[in-house]
Amino acid sequence: MFKLLILFTLLFIFTGCNETSPKEQLDGKLLLENKCASCHNIDMPPELSDDELAPPIMSVSFHVYDFVKPVTQDQREATAIDFVVDYVRNPSVEKSFCDKASLKHYGLMPSQKSKVSKAEVKAIAQYMFEFYTPNNLLKIQQEQAAFEALAPGEKLAIKYKCLGYHRVNKKVIGPSFHDISLRYTDKKAEISKSIKNGTKKKWENSHRAIMPAFKQLNDNELKVLSEWILQK
Ligand code: HEC
Repeated sequence: MFKLLILFTLLFIFTGCNETSPKEQLDGKLLLENKCASCHNIDMPPELSDDELAPPIMSVSFHVYDFVKPVTQDQREATAIDFVVDYVRNPSVEKSFCDKASLKHYGLMPSQKSKVSKAEVKAIAQYMFEFYTPNNLLKIQQEQAAFEALAPGEKLAIKYKCLGYHRVNKKVIGPSFHDISLRYTDKKAEISKSIKNGTKKKWENSHRAIMPAFKQLNDNELKVLSEWILQK
């Protein structure tokens, strides 16, 4: 009897544990990439394309958010999430918020019931309404505009992550671009060569740091980047 009691206690503890242990956190962003991006463009802002299979997720998020009819305004996001969870697994012409022309153009979304669980769609929908917001779009567009406004050489320095190792006026891991420009005044070709082939032990204080070769830059990029460094 005593043994049986212990067994039941143990069983209770373990099953109890299982029930209360937090479910593995689902990653809505990753799930969106894996389960939806084959048809929906997931960039923000999206690239427009003539042969897209479905409206971009940004457009879907914006208009589902606007079109759902929540009982009260503060339930808008929850209502939008519920709509997505239902629609993805049970789509229909009647439920769709797509206008008739778009629906004809894309065709009705095939049910994804066999491909994605309810909990997974919920995680996706939560991510959709958290990330694809007009405010975030504006922020991204402002960042893109600021990046576009930079000098072409600086864009390349950012693109190839040079600024992780060099600063313009301060030595960090590698020498500052200002010091490089002083040493190589009028020797643009030397700078290009160092970028393309990498260097080591050219600078005191940087003896242990090796500058890796950046073979992926083409000749024009090397020229633009070297000229930008020389102006520093
Ligand atoms: C096989 C292609 C395909 C896949 C995969 C797909 N969709 Fe769609 N989806 C569509 C098409 C086409 C439409 C537009 C027609 C419509 O509204 O049914 C659409 C529309 C939608 C709508 C909008 C309904 C409305 O009323 O405007 C939502 C929400 C949606 N998809 C979410 C998702 C999510 C989330 C995933 C990933 C789990 C996903 N879709 C995967 C093709 C797809």
